[in-house]
Amino acid sequence: MDKIRINGTRPLYGTVAVSGAKNAALPLIAATLLTPGTHTLHNVPDLRDTRTMLKLLETLGATWERSGTSVQINTTDLTGAEAPYDLVKTMRASVLVLGPLITRVGHARVSLPGGCAIGARPINFHLRGFEQLGVETILEGGYVEARVQGRLEGSTVYFDIPSVTGTENVLMAAVKATGQTIIKNAAKEPEVGNLIDMLTAMGAEIEGRDTDRLMVTGVDFLQPVEATIIPDRIEAGTYLIAVGAAGGELTITDCFPSQLPALLEKLRAAGMSIEDKANSFTASCPVDSAGNRCPLRGVNVTTMPYPGFPTDLQAQFMALMIQADGVSIIHETIFENRFMHVAELQRLGADITIDGASAVVRGISRDRICGAPVMATDLRASASLVVAGLAASGTTEISRIYHLERGYENMVEKLQGAGADIEKVKA
Ligand code: EPZ
Repeated sequence: MDKIRINGTRPLYGTVAVSGAKNAALPLIAATLLTPGTHTLHNVPDLRDTRTMLKLLETLGATWERSGTSVQINTTDLTGAEAPYDLVKTMRASVLVLGPLITRVGHARVSLPGGCAIGARPINFHLRGFEQLGVETILEGGYVEARVQGRLEGSTVYFDIPSVTGTENVLMAAVKATGQTIIKNAAKEPEVGNLIDMLTAMGAEIEGRDTDRLMVTGVDFLQPVEATIIPDRIEAGTYLIAVGAAGGELTITDCFPSQLPALLEKLRAAGMSIEDKANSFTASCPVDSAGNRCPLRGVNVTTMPYPGFPTDLQAQFMALMIQADGVSIIHETIFENRFMHVAELQRLGADITIDGASAVVRGISRDRICGAPVMATDLRASASLVVAGLAASGTTEISRIYHLERGYENMVEKLQGAGADIEKVKA
Protein backbone atom coordinates (compact mmCIF):
# COMPACT_ATOMS: atom_id res chain seq x y z
CA MET A 1 0.00 0.00 0.00
CA ASP A 2 1.19 3.51 -0.84
CA LYS A 3 2.46 5.84 1.84
CA ILE A 4 2.98 9.57 2.25
CA ARG A 5 6.38 10.74 3.42
CA ILE A 6 6.78 14.24 4.90
CA ASN A 7 9.96 16.00 6.00
CA GLY A 8 8.47 18.53 8.36
CA THR A 9 9.00 22.08 9.63
CA ARG A 10 8.95 23.57 6.08
CA PRO A 11 6.64 26.63 6.09
CA LEU A 12 3.89 26.89 3.44
CA TYR A 13 3.81 29.76 0.96
CA GLY A 14 1.80 30.54 -2.17
CA THR A 15 -1.68 29.46 -3.21
CA VAL A 16 -3.85 26.37 -2.93
CA ALA A 17 -7.13 25.98 -4.88
CA VAL A 18 -9.96 24.10 -3.18
CA SER A 19 -11.82 21.36 -5.07
CA GLY A 20 -15.55 20.61 -5.11
CA ALA A 21 -17.09 19.31 -1.88
CA LYS A 22 -17.14 15.52 -1.44
CA ASN A 23 -20.20 15.78 0.82
CA ALA A 24 -22.11 17.76 -1.79
CA ALA A 25 -20.99 15.69 -4.78
CA LEU A 26 -22.27 12.44 -3.22
CA PRO A 27 -25.92 13.53 -2.69
CA LEU A 28 -26.01 15.43 -5.99
CA ILE A 29 -24.77 12.41 -7.94
CA ALA A 30 -27.44 10.30 -6.20
CA ALA A 31 -30.10 12.92 -7.05
CA THR A 32 -29.59 12.31 -10.80
CA LEU A 33 -31.48 9.02 -10.22
CA LEU A 34 -34.66 10.97 -9.50
CA THR A 35 -35.57 11.53 -13.13
CA PRO A 36 -34.53 10.07 -16.51
CA GLY A 37 -32.29 12.04 -18.86
CA THR A 38 -28.76 13.41 -19.02
CA HIS A 39 -27.65 15.52 -16.05
CA THR A 40 -24.42 17.54 -15.95
CA LEU A 41 -22.63 18.23 -12.67
CA HIS A 42 -19.77 20.74 -12.56
CA ASN A 43 -16.85 21.00 -10.08
CA VAL A 44 -17.08 17.30 -9.20
CA PRO A 45 -13.92 16.29 -7.29
CA ASP A 46 -12.20 13.14 -8.58
CA LEU A 47 -12.02 11.15 -5.33
CA ARG A 48 -12.25 7.53 -4.23
CA ASP A 49 -15.73 8.26 -2.82
CA THR A 50 -17.11 10.03 -5.90
CA ARG A 51 -15.77 7.19 -8.06
CA THR A 52 -17.54 4.72 -5.75
CA MET A 53 -20.84 6.60 -6.04
CA LEU A 54 -20.55 6.74 -9.85
CA LYS A 55 -19.77 3.01 -9.88
CA LEU A 56 -22.89 2.41 -7.78
CA LEU A 57 -24.98 4.32 -10.31
CA GLU A 58 -23.45 2.17 -13.06
CA THR A 59 -24.63 -0.98 -11.26
CA LEU A 60 -28.12 0.57 -11.29
CA GLY A 61 -27.94 1.07 -15.07
CA ALA A 62 -26.78 4.66 -15.35
CA THR A 63 -23.89 5.73 -17.58
CA TRP A 64 -21.52 8.63 -16.97
CA GLU A 65 -18.61 10.44 -18.53
CA ARG A 66 -16.12 12.83 -16.92
CA SER A 67 -14.70 15.79 -18.82
CA GLY A 68 -12.32 17.69 -16.55
CA THR A 69 -14.26 18.60 -13.42
CA SER A 70 -17.65 18.12 -15.12
CA VAL A 71 -19.49 14.79 -15.13
CA GLN A 72 -22.40 13.93 -17.44
CA ILE A 73 -24.70 11.29 -15.97
CA ASN A 74 -27.41 9.56 -18.00
CA THR A 75 -30.00 7.85 -15.78
CA THR A 76 -32.57 7.14 -18.50
CA ASP A 77 -32.40 3.35 -18.45
CA LEU A 78 -32.19 2.07 -14.89
CA THR A 79 -31.81 -1.70 -14.79
CA GLY A 80 -31.79 -2.29 -11.05
CA ALA A 81 -32.56 -0.85 -7.63
CA GLU A 82 -30.07 -2.64 -5.42
CA ALA A 83 -26.94 -1.24 -3.74
CA PRO A 84 -24.77 -4.28 -2.94
CA TYR A 85 -22.91 -4.81 0.33
CA ASP A 86 -19.47 -4.84 -1.28
CA LEU A 87 -20.01 -1.26 -2.45
CA VAL A 88 -21.97 0.10 0.52
CA LYS A 89 -19.46 -1.27 3.06
CA THR A 90 -16.74 0.86 1.43
CA MET A 91 -18.82 4.01 1.51
CA ARG A 92 -21.72 4.65 3.89
CA ALA A 93 -23.05 7.48 1.73
CA SER A 94 -24.26 4.82 -0.73
CA VAL A 95 -27.47 4.86 1.36
CA LEU A 96 -28.22 8.16 -0.41
CA VAL A 97 -29.60 6.19 -3.38
CA LEU A 98 -32.55 5.03 -1.22
CA GLY A 99 -34.57 8.26 -1.45
CA PRO A 100 -34.18 8.80 -5.21
CA LEU A 101 -34.86 5.14 -6.07
CA ILE A 102 -38.04 5.04 -3.97
CA THR A 103 -39.20 8.20 -5.73
CA ARG A 104 -38.18 6.98 -9.21
CA VAL A 105 -39.22 3.29 -9.18
CA GLY A 106 -41.09 2.80 -5.89
CA HIS A 107 -38.63 0.35 -4.37
CA ALA A 108 -34.98 -0.15 -3.41
CA ARG A 109 -32.80 -2.78 -1.77
CA VAL A 110 -29.73 -1.30 -0.10
CA SER A 111 -27.22 -3.00 2.13
CA LEU A 112 -27.08 -1.59 5.62
CA PRO A 113 -23.78 0.32 5.75
CA GLY A 114 -22.47 -1.28 8.90
CA GLY A 115 -20.23 0.72 11.16
CA CYS A 116 -17.01 2.43 10.31
CA ALA A 117 -13.96 3.61 12.20
CA ILE A 118 -15.70 6.64 13.69
CA GLY A 119 -18.89 5.00 14.87
CA ALA A 120 -21.91 2.73 14.43
CA ARG A 121 -23.40 5.09 11.83
CA PRO A 122 -27.01 3.81 11.98
CA ILE A 123 -29.64 4.92 9.44
CA ASN A 124 -32.73 4.60 11.65
CA PHE A 125 -33.65 8.27 11.13
CA HIS A 126 -33.57 7.77 7.35
CA LEU A 127 -35.85 4.71 7.56
CA ARG A 128 -38.27 6.34 10.01
CA GLY A 129 -38.51 9.33 7.67
CA PHE A 130 -39.35 7.10 4.71
CA GLU A 131 -41.99 5.28 6.79
CA GLN A 132 -43.59 8.64 7.64
CA LEU A 133 -43.99 9.13 3.87
CA GLY A 134 -45.78 5.79 3.45
CA VAL A 135 -42.80 3.60 2.61
CA GLU A 136 -42.64 0.03 3.97
CA THR A 137 -39.13 -0.87 5.09
CA ILE A 138 -38.03 -4.42 5.93
CA LEU A 139 -34.59 -5.28 7.36
CA GLU A 140 -33.43 -8.70 6.20
CA GLY A 141 -30.03 -10.31 5.77
CA GLY A 142 -28.15 -7.07 6.32
CA TYR A 143 -30.20 -5.29 3.68
CA VAL A 144 -33.07 -2.84 3.88
CA GLU A 145 -35.95 -3.41 1.45
CA ALA A 146 -37.96 -0.25 0.90
CA ARG A 147 -41.23 -0.34 -1.02
CA VAL A 148 -44.19 1.96 -1.59
CA GLN A 149 -47.52 1.21 -3.29
CA GLY A 150 -48.34 4.13 -5.60
CA ARG A 151 -47.02 7.56 -4.63
CA LEU A 152 -45.35 8.61 -1.41
CA GLU A 153 -47.61 10.68 0.84
CA GLY A 154 -46.44 14.02 2.25
CA SER A 155 -46.17 14.10 6.04
CA THR A 156 -44.17 15.59 8.89
CA VAL A 157 -40.72 14.14 9.57
CA TYR A 158 -38.85 15.01 12.77
CA PHE A 159 -35.13 14.27 13.20
CA ASP A 160 -34.00 13.58 16.78
CA ILE A 161 -30.53 14.64 15.58
CA PRO A 162 -30.13 16.93 12.51
CA SER A 163 -28.78 14.14 10.31
CA VAL A 164 -27.09 15.48 7.16
CA THR A 165 -27.63 12.50 4.85
CA GLY A 166 -30.90 11.73 6.66
CA THR A 167 -32.20 15.18 5.67
CA GLU A 168 -30.90 14.70 2.12
CA ASN A 169 -32.48 11.24 1.76
CA VAL A 170 -35.88 12.35 3.05
CA LEU A 171 -35.79 15.43 0.81
CA MET A 172 -35.26 13.21 -2.25
CA ALA A 173 -38.13 10.96 -1.14
CA ALA A 174 -40.47 13.92 -0.59
CA VAL A 175 -40.03 15.90 -3.82
CA LYS A 176 -42.76 13.98 -5.72
CA ALA A 177 -44.85 12.87 -2.74
CA THR A 178 -48.49 13.96 -2.68
CA GLY A 179 -49.17 17.11 -0.68
CA GLN A 180 -46.70 18.75 1.66
CA THR A 181 -43.82 17.34 3.68
CA ILE A 182 -42.40 19.26 6.64
CA ILE A 183 -38.94 18.26 7.81
CA LYS A 184 -38.27 19.45 11.37
CA ASN A 185 -34.82 19.69 12.95
CA ALA A 186 -33.34 19.36 9.46
CA ALA A 187 -29.58 19.65 8.92
CA LYS A 188 -28.48 23.12 7.73
CA GLU A 189 -25.07 22.23 6.31
CA PRO A 190 -24.18 24.07 3.06
CA GLU A 191 -24.12 20.72 1.27
CA VAL A 192 -27.85 20.32 2.04
CA GLY A 193 -28.41 23.76 0.49
CA ASN A 194 -26.45 22.68 -2.60
CA LEU A 195 -28.80 19.69 -2.97
CA ILE A 196 -31.88 21.88 -2.45
CA ASP A 197 -30.66 24.18 -5.25
CA MET A 198 -30.27 21.22 -7.62
CA LEU A 199 -33.69 19.76 -6.71
CA THR A 200 -35.29 23.20 -7.19
CA ALA A 201 -33.67 23.48 -10.64
CA MET A 202 -35.17 20.06 -11.44
CA GLY A 203 -38.62 21.49 -10.65
CA ALA A 204 -39.01 20.61 -6.96
CA GLU A 205 -40.73 23.08 -4.60
CA ILE A 206 -38.72 23.43 -1.37
CA GLU A 207 -38.89 26.26 1.17
CA GLY A 208 -36.66 26.90 4.21
CA ARG A 209 -33.19 26.49 2.67
CA ASP A 210 -30.47 26.99 5.33
CA THR A 211 -33.01 26.61 8.16
CA ASP A 212 -33.92 23.62 10.35
CA ARG A 213 -37.49 23.54 8.97
CA LEU A 214 -37.92 22.51 5.36
CA MET A 215 -41.28 22.46 3.57
CA VAL A 216 -41.55 20.38 0.40
CA THR A 217 -44.61 20.59 -1.86
CA GLY A 218 -44.71 17.47 -4.03
CA VAL A 219 -44.65 17.93 -7.81
CA ASP A 220 -45.52 15.57 -10.65
CA PHE A 221 -42.51 16.12 -12.86
CA LEU A 222 -38.78 16.64 -12.46
CA GLN A 223 -36.38 17.43 -15.30
CA PRO A 224 -32.69 16.60 -15.73
CA VAL A 225 -30.45 19.57 -14.94
CA GLU A 226 -27.01 21.10 -14.80
CA ALA A 227 -25.74 21.82 -11.30
CA THR A 228 -22.47 22.95 -9.73
CA ILE A 229 -20.91 21.39 -6.64
CA ILE A 230 -19.96 23.95 -3.96
CA PRO A 231 -16.34 24.18 -2.78
CA ASP A 232 -15.22 21.79 -0.08
CA ARG A 233 -15.24 23.77 3.16
CA ILE A 234 -13.60 20.91 5.05
CA GLU A 235 -10.72 20.79 2.57
CA ALA A 236 -10.37 24.59 2.85
CA GLY A 237 -10.38 24.34 6.65
CA THR A 238 -7.76 21.60 6.55
CA TYR A 239 -5.34 23.84 4.62
CA LEU A 240 -6.03 26.77 6.97
CA ILE A 241 -5.07 24.56 9.90
CA ALA A 242 -2.00 23.31 8.00
CA VAL A 243 -0.69 26.91 7.79
CA GLY A 244 -0.98 27.19 11.55
CA ALA A 245 0.97 23.96 11.98
CA ALA A 246 3.70 24.54 9.40
CA GLY A 247 3.87 28.32 9.54
CA GLY A 248 4.15 30.59 6.49
CA GLU A 249 1.54 32.40 4.47
CA LEU A 250 -0.95 30.70 2.17
CA THR A 251 -3.81 31.96 0.03
CA ILE A 252 -6.62 29.42 -0.24
CA THR A 253 -8.85 30.11 -3.24
CA ASP A 254 -12.09 28.85 -4.77
CA CYS A 255 -13.84 28.55 -1.44
CA PHE A 256 -16.47 30.33 0.71
CA PRO A 257 -14.95 31.63 3.99
CA SER A 258 -18.50 32.42 5.13
CA GLN A 259 -19.04 28.67 5.48
CA LEU A 260 -16.35 28.26 8.15
CA PRO A 261 -17.43 30.73 10.87
CA ALA A 262 -16.53 28.55 13.85
CA LEU A 263 -13.11 27.52 12.54
CA LEU A 264 -12.14 31.13 11.74
CA GLU A 265 -13.12 32.13 15.27
CA LYS A 266 -11.00 29.40 16.83
CA LEU A 267 -7.91 29.87 14.63
CA ARG A 268 -7.92 33.63 15.30
CA ALA A 269 -8.35 32.98 19.03
CA ALA A 270 -5.34 30.65 18.81
CA GLY A 271 -3.28 33.48 17.34
CA MET A 272 -3.38 33.05 13.57
CA SER A 273 -4.02 36.06 11.36
CA ILE A 274 -6.53 35.26 8.62
CA GLU A 275 -7.79 37.68 5.98
CA ASP A 276 -11.00 36.40 4.42
CA LYS A 277 -12.58 37.61 1.20
CA ALA A 278 -15.69 36.36 -0.62
CA ASN A 279 -13.95 33.39 -2.29
CA SER A 280 -10.56 33.09 -0.61
CA PHE A 281 -8.56 33.25 2.61
CA THR A 282 -5.03 34.42 3.22
CA ALA A 283 -3.76 32.80 6.39
CA SER A 284 -0.41 33.60 7.92
CA CYS A 285 1.62 32.27 10.78
CA PRO A 286 5.01 33.98 10.45
CA VAL A 287 8.22 32.00 10.86
CA ASP A 288 11.33 33.85 12.09
CA SER A 289 14.87 33.48 10.69
CA ALA A 290 15.57 30.72 13.20
CA GLY A 291 12.56 28.78 11.89
CA ASN A 292 10.41 29.41 14.94
CA ARG A 293 6.73 29.58 14.00
CA CYS A 294 4.55 32.28 15.53
CA PRO A 295 3.31 31.22 18.97
CA LEU A 296 -0.20 29.73 19.12
CA ARG A 297 -2.47 29.48 22.14
CA GLY A 298 -4.50 26.43 23.10
CA VAL A 299 -8.26 26.98 22.66
CA ASN A 300 -11.24 24.77 23.54
CA VAL A 301 -13.51 23.33 20.86
CA THR A 302 -16.86 21.52 20.93
CA THR A 303 -18.05 19.95 17.68
CA MET A 304 -21.64 20.81 16.74
CA PRO A 305 -23.96 20.63 13.72
CA TYR A 306 -23.58 23.54 11.26
CA PRO A 307 -22.86 26.41 11.84
CA GLY A 308 -21.00 25.07 14.89
CA PHE A 309 -17.46 23.70 14.76
CA PRO A 310 -17.48 20.86 12.18
CA THR A 311 -16.74 17.38 13.49
CA ASP A 312 -14.92 16.83 10.17
CA LEU A 313 -12.26 19.35 11.27
CA GLN A 314 -11.86 18.07 14.85
CA ALA A 315 -8.93 15.73 14.14
CA GLN A 316 -7.08 18.33 12.05
CA PHE A 317 -7.57 21.01 14.72
CA MET A 318 -6.23 18.65 17.38
CA ALA A 319 -3.04 18.25 15.29
CA LEU A 320 -2.61 22.01 15.64
CA MET A 321 -3.37 22.14 19.36
CA ILE A 322 -0.70 19.55 20.22
CA GLN A 323 1.88 22.27 19.49
CA ALA A 324 0.08 25.28 21.00
CA ASP A 325 0.90 26.93 24.34
CA GLY A 326 -1.37 25.71 27.11
CA VAL A 327 -4.23 23.27 27.31
CA SER A 328 -6.99 22.68 24.77
CA ILE A 329 -10.09 20.63 25.56
CA ILE A 330 -11.65 19.14 22.44
CA HIS A 331 -15.17 17.79 22.96
CA GLU A 332 -16.61 15.54 20.22
CA THR A 333 -20.42 15.50 20.35
CA ILE A 334 -21.34 14.04 16.93
CA PHE A 335 -19.62 10.64 16.68
CA GLU A 336 -18.84 8.19 19.46
CA ASN A 337 -15.42 7.08 18.29
CA ARG A 338 -13.74 9.94 16.53
CA PHE A 339 -10.46 9.98 18.46
CA MET A 340 -8.67 7.27 16.44
CA HIS A 341 -6.03 9.86 15.49
CA VAL A 342 -5.03 10.42 19.15
CA ALA A 343 -2.85 7.31 19.44
CA GLU A 344 -1.06 8.19 16.20
CA LEU A 345 -0.50 11.81 17.26
CA GLN A 346 0.93 10.47 20.53
CA ARG A 347 3.51 8.56 18.46
CA LEU A 348 4.69 11.98 17.25
CA GLY A 349 5.14 13.12 20.85
CA ALA A 350 1.74 14.71 21.52
CA ASP A 351 0.47 14.90 25.12
CA ILE A 352 -3.24 13.99 24.88
CA THR A 353 -5.52 12.40 27.46
CA ILE A 354 -8.92 11.07 26.43
CA ASP A 355 -11.67 11.52 28.98
CA GLY A 356 -14.91 10.08 27.53
CA ALA A 357 -16.02 12.30 24.64
CA SER A 358 -13.32 14.86 25.41
CA ALA A 359 -9.62 14.96 24.64
CA VAL A 360 -7.40 17.07 26.89
CA VAL A 361 -4.48 18.31 24.78
CA ARG A 362 -1.46 19.74 26.59
CA GLY A 363 0.51 21.69 24.03
CA ILE A 364 4.23 21.06 23.75
CA SER A 365 6.87 23.06 21.90
CA ARG A 366 6.96 22.28 18.24
CA ASP A 367 10.54 21.03 18.39
CA ARG A 368 9.28 18.15 20.56
CA ILE A 369 6.90 16.99 17.83
CA CYS A 370 9.09 14.36 16.14
CA GLY A 371 8.35 12.57 12.89
CA ALA A 372 7.61 8.83 13.03
CA PRO A 373 5.82 6.10 11.06
CA VAL A 374 2.05 6.45 11.69
CA MET A 375 -1.10 4.79 10.34
CA ALA A 376 -4.21 6.47 8.95
CA THR A 377 -7.41 5.00 10.41
CA ASP A 378 -10.12 7.10 8.73
CA LEU A 379 -10.46 10.03 6.35
CA ARG A 380 -10.09 12.99 8.68
CA ALA A 381 -7.63 11.23 10.98
CA SER A 382 -5.31 10.85 7.96
CA ALA A 383 -5.58 14.59 7.27
CA SER A 384 -4.71 15.18 10.92
CA LEU A 385 -1.51 13.16 10.52
CA VAL A 386 -0.52 15.19 7.44
CA VAL A 387 -1.00 18.42 9.43
CA ALA A 388 1.10 17.08 12.30
CA GLY A 389 3.76 15.76 9.89
CA LEU A 390 4.13 19.20 8.30
CA ALA A 391 5.05 20.61 11.72
CA ALA A 392 7.12 17.70 13.03
CA SER A 393 10.90 17.68 12.89
CA GLY A 394 12.28 14.79 10.90
CA THR A 395 10.36 12.40 8.68
CA THR A 396 6.76 11.24 9.13
CA GLU A 397 5.54 8.30 7.06
CA ILE A 398 1.77 7.79 6.87
CA SER A 399 0.49 4.37 5.82
CA ARG A 400 -3.04 3.36 4.62
CA ILE A 401 -3.42 6.62 2.74
CA TYR A 402 -6.38 5.23 0.80
CA HIS A 403 -8.34 6.78 3.66
CA LEU A 404 -7.00 10.21 2.70
CA GLU A 405 -7.73 9.71 -0.98
CA ARG A 406 -11.43 9.23 -0.21
CA GLY A 407 -11.87 12.93 0.48
CA TYR A 408 -8.89 15.05 -0.60
CA GLU A 409 -8.16 15.65 -4.28
CA ASN A 410 -4.43 15.90 -5.09
CA MET A 411 -3.47 16.84 -1.54
CA VAL A 412 0.19 15.86 -2.00
CA GLU A 413 0.50 17.92 -5.20
CA LYS A 414 -1.28 20.91 -3.65
CA LEU A 415 1.04 20.89 -0.63
CA GLN A 416 4.12 20.37 -2.85
CA GLY A 417 3.02 23.47 -4.75
CA ALA A 418 2.99 25.37 -1.44
CA GLY A 419 6.56 24.35 -0.62
CA ALA A 420 6.00 21.32 1.61
CA ASP A 421 8.55 18.52 1.43
CA ILE A 422 5.93 15.81 0.90
CA GLU A 423 5.74 12.90 -1.51
CA LYS A 424 3.69 9.82 -2.16
CA VAL A 425 5.82 6.69 -2.11
CA LYS A 426 4.87 3.37 -3.66
CA ALA A 427 4.83 0.51 -1.13
C1 EPZ B 1 -22.43 13.46 7.12
O1 EPZ B 1 -22.50 12.14 7.61
C2 EPZ B 1 -21.08 13.59 6.46
N1 EPZ B 1 -21.00 12.67 5.33
C3 EPZ B 1 -19.99 13.29 7.49
O2 EPZ B 1 -18.73 13.48 6.84
C4 EPZ B 1 -20.13 14.29 8.63
O3 EPZ B 1 -19.17 13.99 9.61
C5 EPZ B 1 -21.53 14.19 9.23
O4 EPZ B 1 -22.52 14.39 8.21
C6 EPZ B 1 -21.77 15.23 10.32
O5 EPZ B 1 -21.57 16.51 9.79
C7 EPZ B 1 -21.64 12.98 4.18
O6 EPZ B 1 -22.28 14.01 4.05
C8 EPZ B 1 -21.50 12.00 3.05
P1 EPZ B 1 -25.24 12.44 10.40
P2 EPZ B 1 -23.90 11.54 8.12
O7 EPZ B 1 -26.35 11.59 9.92
O8 EPZ B 1 -25.02 12.13 7.38
C9 EPZ B 1 -26.39 9.83 14.19
C10 EPZ B 1 -16.51 12.99 6.28
O9 EPZ B 1 -15.49 12.87 6.97
N2 EPZ B 1 -27.39 9.22 13.31
O10 EPZ B 1 -25.39 13.92 10.36
O11 EPZ B 1 -23.76 10.06 8.13
C11 EPZ B 1 -24.97 9.51 13.73
O12 EPZ B 1 -24.54 8.28 14.25
C12 EPZ B 1 -17.81 12.38 6.76
O13 EPZ B 1 -16.56 13.62 5.19
C13 EPZ B 1 -28.26 8.27 13.85
O14 EPZ B 1 -28.19 7.91 15.02
O15 EPZ B 1 -23.93 12.06 9.61
C14 EPZ B 1 -24.20 10.69 14.28
O16 EPZ B 1 -23.92 10.43 15.65
C15 EPZ B 1 -17.66 11.62 8.06
N3 EPZ B 1 -29.19 7.71 13.04
C16 EPZ B 1 -25.18 11.85 14.18
O17 EPZ B 1 -26.47 11.26 14.06
C17 EPZ B 1 -29.31 8.09 11.72
O18 EPZ B 1 -30.22 7.56 11.02
C18 EPZ B 1 -24.98 12.77 12.99
O19 EPZ B 1 -24.85 11.94 11.87
C19 EPZ B 1 -28.42 9.04 11.19
C20 EPZ B 1 -27.48 9.59 12.01
